[in-house]
Amino acid sequence: MLFDSHSHMYSVKFDGDREEVFKRIKEADVRYVLNAGADLETSMKAIDFAQKYEMFYASVGCHPHDVKDLDDATIQLFKGLVKKPKVCAIGEIGLDYYYDHSPRDLQQYWFRRQIQLAHEVSMPIIIHDRDANEDTLKLLKEEKAFDLGVLMHCFSGSAELAKQYIKLGAKISIAGPVTFKNAKKLIEVVEAIPVEHLLIETDAPYLTPEPFRGKRNESTYVKYTAQKVAEIKGMPFEEIARITCENALAFFRIKA
Ligand code: NI
Repeated sequence: MLFDSHSHMYSVKFDGDREEVFKRIKEADVRYVLNAGADLETSMKAIDFAQKYEMFYASVGCHPHDVKDLDDATIQLFKGLVKKPKVCAIGEIGLDYYYDHSPRDLQQYWFRRQIQLAHEVSMPIIIHDRDANEDTLKLLKEEKAFDLGVLMHCFSGSAELAKQYIKLGAKISIAGPVTFKNAKKLIEVVEAIPVEHLLIETDAPYLTPEPFRGKRNESTYVKYTAQKVAEIKGMPFEEIARITCENALAFFRIKA
């Protein structure tokens, strides 16, 4: 039984063959999939899918790319949306200094504001951090985010940083790049972090693992990430699948 802790399966990229893809996900024994919102529209889509399909759960929030269009009225709408069934986190939120699609001061302002929202509604948060390690950790500490439950989605930092995060009580989510040839740094993270603190994800339709790298990603392929983690840890695949699934259920407070 597998839990894909981060995906965007509502994406328009599945509009042509959605039902077939969903059937494959089920057949691959992926029992749970968290669809992460990236703005108001996709947060509502994620909730919609959670209502229509048993395997889907939802998070609501605004991705750092899109915070340039965010406003207080939308934050209030998010606050209403978290009361819907199967919404289990605020996210994905954070900082992205690689693309800088929104100005950094705005990214920081709305990151803080969405952590505060998570405090208001008592929900864990899903963090996107790209090339912003220092500021992400600083803001999370300043906003007392570790009291909420913090999931570092698609972790790409060092083993040292990962250790720092788990000391603070955060969880680390491993995505498809762990299967890539140049995954040395990420493999060190998996080696350094006890499996009790690890989750696995696809971030579909992006970041497709080997052997499908370059193609569209889907939650079915979370098994390749699980296989790689099992190989690195020297543990049976079934054990990794079970433990990472239990970790995700506990993090998102889902009753199995
Ligand atoms: Ni994502």
